[in-house]
This record gives sequence, C-alpha cells and structure tokens, in this order.
Amino acid sequence: MTGPLDAAALNRDLAATRFAGRVICVADCESTNLLALRLASEQGRAADRTVIVAEHQSAGRGRLGRSWHAPRGAGLLMTVLLHGPPPVAGRLVLAAGIAVCEAVGEVADVAASLRWPNDVYVGARKLAGVLVETAACEPGIAMALGIGLNCLQKPGHFPPELRDLATSLEIESRHAIDRHAVAVRMLNRLDGWLDAAFDAADASLVRECVERSDDLGRRATLMHSGRTLSGTVVEIDDGLGAWLQLDDGGRVRFDPLTTRRIG
Ligand code: BTN
Repeated sequence: MTGPLDAAALNRDLAATRFAGRVICVADCESTNLLALRLASEQGRAADRTVIVAEHQSAGRGRLGRSWHAPRGAGLLMTVLLHGPPPVAGRLVLAAGIAVCEAVGEVADVAASLRWPNDVYVGARKLAGVLVETAACEPGIAMALGIGLNCLQKPGHFPPELRDLATSLEIESRHAIDRHAVAVRMLNRLDGWLDAAFDAADASLVRECVERSDDLGRRATLMHSGRTLSGTVVEIDDGLGAWLQLDDGGRVRFDPLTTRRIG
C-alpha cells in the first residue's frame, strides 16, 4: 500500500488488538505526542489506547529536548496513549523498541537491535527512536508513547550531519517498504508486549531486551547530572538501568529516563 496511512484500513487490520477502532490519522500536527496528551486532558481515561499517526510533524520531539524530523510521508510517526502507574514508563520504551525490532524483521527482513536507552539501530545507524512523555490524568497518569521509525527516506533525505548516523527501512531492506504493513505488525507486537510492560514482575521484557541489545559488552559514553563517563556496558538490570564498567575501575548505574548517550 502506498500513499498516506489510512485510519479505516489500520483499524480494520488491527481488529484483533486492543487498538481496534482507536487509530486516528492526521496529515499534519506539531507532534503526535503533544496531540495525544491534549486528548488525554480532554477525555481522560476514555482515550486510553488511542493511536495517533501523522504524515508530518512541524515540531516533532526527541529525547532530552532534541527534535525529530522526517519528510512528509517518509516516516512512521505515531503515539500510543496509555494510562497507568508512573513506574511503567521506562518499560514502555522497551516494549516499543522490541515491537519495532520484531516488525521490521518480519515485514522488511531487516535485523535491528536495541541501543540503550531508547533507540533502535541497524548496525551503526539509528533506525527508530522512542519517547515517552507523561501528564497527570487522575487516577494515574497519561503516557504518550511516541515512536519515530524511518521508513521511506533515501540517504539524501537526511541532513549531511546525520547521513552516517541515521538509516531507514528503504535503505536497509531488499523489499519494497509498505508503511501500512509495518504499522500493523508493530502495533500487533506492541499490543502483546504492553501486558509485560504493565506487569513489573514480568521478566520477559528485560530478557528480550537483553537478547536484542547491541550494547552488552560494548563501549558506551554516557552523561548524567553533568558528568560524562566511558566504559563497557556490563548489565541492563530489572529497572532498565545500564551498568557501566568504568575504564578507571568501579561500576556505575545509569538511569534510562535521564541519561544522555554520547557514544
Ligand atoms: C528520540 O530518538 O530522541 C526519540 C524520537 C521520538 C520521535 C517520535 S515521532 C512520533 C512521536 N511524536 C513526537 O513528537 N516524537 C515521537
């Protein structure tokens, strides 16, 4: 399927999931996360599991104040609105990352892996990013689980400074990319992983993350509270923190929600 994503077709093909009938497609918005949080403040829990998909964002948001750009119609830009207790937020990032890896493997035959804390990579290039934003929505909080997945971009679509750092399914796959099929598969997989994300005692999420991680045993440079530290990633723990074995000895845990990854 080519052309803009279509809400009726997505809702039809998601009939077996808890997103059925809850997908909204828009041509333009500032940010699907922002739109989702507005919906939560207007409708409260009634908007739970709404999925907002945009062809273009004028102010797409990335982690830690960065922005997220994609040419119109090239990316999969979506937010899944969820309600729940706050500790779930870090696990949502993982559930989304795993769902993206599964979908791009199954639909586009692309082998992607998770890069702590919130990215999906193919080799040394970033394919997708996840951003969870929250707002009070009694009872509990509203969580906007935003996913940006590069689908149809060609190398020239990325700004020169990102060309060696970013990639897309179009670049990585031998197959024609159908954004509708990728979206449906990803939301199907996410529907399953959300149960594990909301159950803090479910170890399958962290297990899957460890299996799909390209970090373990690799070097990383992480910044937290103004301190930049380099070392080898030796563990991703149950709280989704990354443990770095420092070059000068000692181990430090980094929080997934507040750490900036430098390298
Ligand atoms: C990151 O890698 O820093 C996270 C990027 C998340 C981008 C997605 S695109 C859909 C959703 N809406 C936004 O404004 N951001 C997320």
